[in-house]
Amino acid sequence: MNNFEFYNPTRIIFGKGTIPDIDSHIPENARVLMCYGGGSIKTNGVYEQVVSALGDRIFFEFGGIEPNPDYDTLIKAVEFGREEKVDFILAVGGGSVLDGSKLIAAGIPYTDGEVWEIVKGGKSAKIDQALPIGVVLTLPATGSEMNGNSVISRRASKEKYVWVSELVFPKFSVLDPTTTYSLPENQIRNGIVDAYVHVMEQYATYSVNAPLQDRQAESIFLTLQDIGPEALETPPDYEARANLMWTATNALNKLICKGVPEDWATHMIGHELTALYGLAHAESLAVVLPHLLWFQRERKAGKLMQYAHRVWGLAGDDESVIRQALAEMTAFFNHLGMPTKLTDYGIDPDEAANLIEAKFDKKGTKLGEHSDITPKDVADILRMSQ
Ligand code: NZQ
Ligand code: ZN
Repeated sequence: MNNFEFYNPTRIIFGKGTIPDIDSHIPENARVLMCYGGGSIKTNGVYEQVVSALGDRIFFEFGGIEPNPDYDTLIKAVEFGREEKVDFILAVGGGSVLDGSKLIAAGIPYTDGEVWEIVKGGKSAKIDQALPIGVVLTLPATGSEMNGNSVISRRASKEKYVWVSELVFPKFSVLDPTTTYSLPENQIRNGIVDAYVHVMEQYATYSVNAPLQDRQAESIFLTLQDIGPEALETPPDYEARANLMWTATNALNKLICKGVPEDWATHMIGHELTALYGLAHAESLAVVLPHLLWFQRERKAGKLMQYAHRVWGLAGDDESVIRQALAEMTAFFNHLGMPTKLTDYGIDPDEAANLIEAKFDKKGTKLGEHSDITPKDVADILRMSQ
């Protein structure tokens, strides 16, 4: 196993009827900026519950954070927050609201230039403070409720990047599964697939003799396969939604990646597809992952074989087992209603391949756990998505 450090300071408050508990975790005299998205919280009762829990506190609102949160929107919240001297950020929504709120929390006290510099800092974003963040999660998918990641888009320049800082871990996250009841089917589907891909990117690399992490990852695959279809049913089933919510959090709270290599190539390629074509995050992953894993089948053979045996119960030790396992995974995604080819969206794989190859070439991007997936390989992978 590789050396590692593990730090996760987020308090999780889980279960039905837990939104009022935010009252005990936000200072009485805080000046709160409540951030939310396009309005779902105004029609499903979450907004009222949050406002009631805030009680007599002074609070301001910033709504309109869009899916794949846009820098130009968030910078308005930064300016507003500075004017109103807010000192606590309360994010109420899905991954986009949470990620956007992290940039707002870091951007308000930032004095070293344009706030975009924080995003450009990537994995070692240079900030020395951020306002405290509280979360009420309404969409199980990203794990943002229990990690220090934030993914920000800039539509004006067709860019989408992840930045990371320990300073933006939420202080607390309320996970009330009943908030997910109003989600449309495609968002539940997106959440299941996003969580599944998170686990795959922390698992399908090479073995470093870390059996606990392997089995944690496999248990998440199996759980998602079991509960995924149930979570899509209407009327919503509390147990299925509760299990999905906690499973998605565990898929990216950075526990299963400790001490093992990671491969975030599918996410990096997916972010480019979202920036270029506007695909939802999970949609962008599902059109890449099966093809990337097949392309990398020799590099990843040990782990993919283990995945085939333990997750899909397949016997044998040649390439055909990997092919079968990837076919099972793809069928699982499709069964949830998730397309797995670029052509399903009317996107020309050749065009996507050329554009992304050129962009990665320019930046000298190499992906994968061995940093050996070249821009040309990325183009070959995208051309397979038809
Ligand atoms: O904006 P509102 O009106 O709230 O509607 C949202 C939005 O349209 C809706 N929604 C959320 N909760 C709802 C609801 N509708 C009805 N009832 C509810 N309870 O769902 C739509 C999508 O929301 P969004 O937040 O965009 O979805 P998701 O949670 O999938 O987040 C995607 C973003 O997270 C980033 C992605 O790149 C993307 O920008 N990611 C963040 C990660 C992280 N921080 O660790 C990791 C991920 O890999 C991912 O990259
Ligand atoms: Zn993701």
